[in-house]
Amino acid sequence: MKTPGRTKIAALLSGGEVGKDVVVKGWVRTKRGNKNVAFIALNDGSTINNIQLVVDLQKISEDALKGVTTGACICAKGALVASQGGSQSVEIQVVNIELYGAADVETYPLQKKGHTLEFLREIAHLRPRTNTFGAVLRIRHAMAFAIHKYFNDNGFAYLHTPIVTASDAEGAGAMFQVTTLDVKNPPRAENGEVDYAQDFFGKHTSLTVSGQLEGELGAMALGEIYTFGPTFRAENSNTPRHLAEFWMIEPEMAFYEIEDNMNLAEDFIKSLVKYALDSCMDDLKFLNDMYDKELIERLQSVCSTDFVRLDYTEGVKILEASGQKFEFPVKWGIDLQSEHERYLVEKHFKKPVILTNYPKDIKAFYMKQNEDGKTVRAMDVLFPKIGEIIGGSQREESLEKLQARIDELKMDVSTLWWYIDTRRFGSAPHSGFGLGFERLLLFVTGMANIRDVIPFPRTPKSAEF
Ligand code: 4AD
Ligand code: MG
Repeated sequence: MKTPGRTKIAALLSGGEVGKDVVVKGWVRTKRGNKNVAFIALNDGSTINNIQLVVDLQKISEDALKGVTTGACICAKGALVASQGGSQSVEIQVVNIELYGAADVETYPLQKKGHTLEFLREIAHLRPRTNTFGAVLRIRHAMAFAIHKYFNDNGFAYLHTPIVTASDAEGAGAMFQVTTLDVKNPPRAENGEVDYAQDFFGKHTSLTVSGQLEGELGAMALGEIYTFGPTFRAENSNTPRHLAEFWMIEPEMAFYEIEDNMNLAEDFIKSLVKYALDSCMDDLKFLNDMYDKELIERLQSVCSTDFVRLDYTEGVKILEASGQKFEFPVKWGIDLQSEHERYLVEKHFKKPVILTNYPKDIKAFYMKQNEDGKTVRAMDVLFPKIGEIIGGSQREESLEKLQARIDELKMDVSTLWWYIDTRRFGSAPHSGFGLGFERLLLFVTGMANIRDVIPFPRTPKSAEF
């Protein structure tokens, strides 16, 4: 379909026909000039590049340009001509300008360039209009598309798993409760506890921390599925890598062993990075120049190197022998911190690492138990600058072993019976993993804070926009 009423700036800059009359609509980035001519840089979000509007002040009165200041939204008509100077190939010789919406010079917060990312977080409603967030949001879109494309091309079905759930069994983190009960005066059962039988769903419910458990039900019928949806964790972790609301991609595959799972994770993530390099180069170049001079090089290198595959036990040995002073001391059995993960990836191997066979006590109940009785068939993919980007495992398919682990952990089976049923009826070896979408975007954009790769971040004490 043709864009109604205008041509997008991306299309004009990448192959607009010189001499043709065109209409563009967008937001003014800058206006400069002298008494004879005004130059307006216009951006419409279709590309990081602006188109230059050249206004001959003999033909268009300065009055008509009054409200045309930084931030204003305008419609401009004119002929597309070869550019006289500058870096762009074409510009527009304007014959008519219409002001859609002015932006007061005194109060428009993006009047000047060069705001800090911290300041821009306080104006998250306007920051999409900056070059940085335009670039990040276009890349975010491209990555979402590439994810669906990858799975569709490989025969995976997109499964929509629920956002409201009664099971709190994943153990991935604290959950946000969902309730319509009167929080000031909830109904009480005879024992004095809140009576969730009277709540909307007739039981205690929360926002999901992961779609995996339902994803497994899908894989046990459709073979290969993936989820891609919002997940919620009420941990008070104020770090540059944690959000309370983030998006996760969770493929789940019948008949995959842990090696197949690792192969898929590596191929998947490489293909996403390659897609970004192929499709988002203008935006990547901008981010590379502005924020992270090694970004593009790092992306290219990930596409062309084999990821290291290493046992957790070996990883711990390397860390212990490193002589490095860590904030959290290392010994077998600990949950690795991002400082440990990044040491392995950035200092020791200098490439992505897939760590496997973690101690069972630091991993979820559903992971396949190894013969040694101590470790499980978990796999975390560790990335430069990020640490853990993917967490996954082969799943325990044996009913007895799964049941024994559930008993050992004294888990509440009343909300899990349906999950255990998969092992009762037609169980199969299977595996899956979860990729944090914003962690992927941190890597692909080179941004340093996860709050800057999601349009409206949700973090402790922050849900304004
Ligand atoms: O390692 P996690 O907790 O694994 C699961 O939830 C499994 N159910 C996945 C599966 O096997 N299907 O989370 C998976 C990924 C992490 O590796 C990380 O990239 C991301 O989700 N993640 C977060 N991203 C942003 N903010 C948070 N608070 C995150 N917690 C996890
Ligand atoms: Mg994890």
